[in-house]
This record gives sequence, C-alpha cells and structure tokens, in this order.
Amino acid sequence: MKNKIQQIAQEIETLAAKNNEEVEALRIKYLSKKGDITALFNDFRTVPNEEKREIGQLLNQLRDRAQEKINDLKASFESMQTAETAIDLTRTADPIALGTRHPLSLVKNEIIEIFSRIGFTIAEGPEIEDDWHVFGALNFPPEHPARDMQDTFFIEKNPDILLRTHTSSVQTRVMTSQKPPIRVLCPGRVYRNEAISYRAHCFFHQVEGLYIDKNVSFADLKQALLYFAKEMFGEDTQIRLRPSYFPFTEPSAEMDISCNLCGGKGCPFCKYTGWVEILGCGMVDPNVLEECGIDSKEYTGYAFGMGVERITNLKFQVKDLRLFSENDVRFLRQFESAW
Ligand code: DAH
Repeated sequence: MKNKIQQIAQEIETLAAKNNEEVEALRIKYLSKKGDITALFNDFRTVPNEEKREIGQLLNQLRDRAQEKINDLKASFESMQTAETAIDLTRTADPIALGTRHPLSLVKNEIIEIFSRIGFTIAEGPEIEDDWHVFGALNFPPEHPARDMQDTFFIEKNPDILLRTHTSSVQTRVMTSQKPPIRVLCPGRVYRNEAISYRAHCFFHQVEGLYIDKNVSFADLKQALLYFAKEMFGEDTQIRLRPSYFPFTEPSAEMDISCNLCGGKGCPFCKYTGWVEILGCGMVDPNVLEECGIDSKEYTGYAFGMGVERITNLKFQVKDLRLFSENDVRFLRQFESAW
C-alpha cells in the first residue's frame, strides 16, 4: 500500500497537460469514483489496524496534493484563455487623440473674458459685407485706398459686395440695430488683399470694441484699455497712446504697451524702443453716430480694434503668421498647456 501511495505521489508531481480536456482526463484517472486514488481509499479497510493511522494520513495527503495539482493545471489554462480570447476589462482604453484649442482661439477667448468682466457682450456680423457697412457708414471717403481692389477682396459680379476688411463693420450693424447704451465686443475673421508672407496674410482675426452711452469720454477709453493691458500682459504693463488717424474715430490713437519681453528696457522684439503697438482706438466720430441713426448730441462713444494674431505673437513669439492657418498639429499642440 505504502509503495503504491509513493508511486502515485511521484506521478502526481510530474503531471502535465496540454489543454483543459487533458486536465479533466487526469482528474478522472486519479480522483473520480473509479480513479486510482479513490481505489486506494477503497482498499484502506484491508490495511492492518496498527498501520491505519499512518497510511490514512499518507492517503489524505496524496488526495489533497492531487487535487491541488489538478486545480493549478486548470487555472493555468483558464488564465491563458482569458489572455487570448476574452475581453480584458482592466486594460486602459486606446487613447483617443484629443485636439487642443487653437492659439488664436485661446487668445480670443481671453480677450472676451477680460472685457466681459467690465460688461461687454458679444456681437457678430457677416464676413461677406456690403460697402456701406464696411466703409460708407464708417466715414471712409469715396476715394479711400481701402476701397481699392489692391487692398480689398470684392465679390466679382457685384462691386458693392466684399469680404470685410475689418470687424468695424459689426459696429455699423450693432449701431443700426440697437439703441444705446451699447457695450459690445466683436470678434471675427477679416480679409485683405495682401501678398502672403511670414508677416502678412490674406485673412486674419480682429476683436473690435464699441461703447456708446451718455458722457462716454476718452478717459473711459484709456481706463478700459489700461485694465485690459494689465489683465492680458501682467500687472506691471504700461500703456501709451499715440495720436493717429482712422476715418471712423475722432480723435484717434494707437496704443502701445511696454514690451512684455524686456519689460520696457529695449530688445530686438521691440526694436529697442521698449514699446510694442497693439491696437487702434478713438472716440466714435459724430458723423458715424449720425449715419447709423444715433443722436451725436446726446451720445458719445469709444471704439477700439485689435489683431488677435498680433496679441498672440506678443504672448508666444510666433515668428511666422502662416503657421496659424497651416494646421500642423505639432505647432498647434504647444499652446493649450502653455496657457
Ligand atoms: N478697423 C481698424 C483696422 O482694421 C482697427 C480699429 C482702429 C478699430 C480704431 C477701431 C478703432 O474700432 O477705433 O485697422
């Protein structure tokens, strides 16, 4: 009996199987009703009494070991099967390439956010406009060069219809459709007939601001723009207004900010002046108010317009404007995380 137990014990230690069926065959061979180990248990009653204790223990050990071995073999096939055929719920999902926000959108949204905090809402208008909304109502004289084919894209069949050259056309739309007080920000794309190079493109983006109410003064304009410059470029930013000319504002100015790269000390970026230009602005010309049906004796207003590409370049020093519209994801991916 002892020899038999030892022999089976040895067999058990070297058990191997190629698949589940073979494991099951082993189980039947050793542990089923007619199995070898079960047969030894059946023979147990023939064991002399004085040996029963020892043989009983050996038999129990043998049965437990056989069961353990067969369970292990079974488990090994089960885990292999899982790896090969079943769905692994613990696996991380395939990464879906999420896009990032376009740098111009990031900057545009920031401009909107800053002005919305002081009460500006958004107004939008069409990119294909008529002469009156883009030029006529805004005090452009008939012979103004912007009305030349060299500068503006006209829709061929109708010289009155053109691609807007500035978002100031949305001012016209707002003033002719709303009553003061008006406080709007007009973001949008504009088009100009320019040769494309690293510093000019045939389309770009602007944000226009317009505020019309009783007693709006140049001091209000200056204060709003100073607030904007500090929010956008940092608390230490200074502004300076230089007299300028736009047909639709009087007086008109261009605004510089202290160079945000060198802090105003002078560097190649600001051409060693310490200042960089960021926008045009002024008091809405009374002619424009009247043309749009607003009483210029009762109301005054200010306006400003800035290029989104320009502000983005100041923030990120993008050297080539064309990158903004080439949609190279290696370029576009850099901005959202840096914002
Ligand atoms: N429309 C001007 C341009 O495209 C920008 C501008 C300047 C807008 C002064 C304004 C303004 O509203 O007051 O260059």
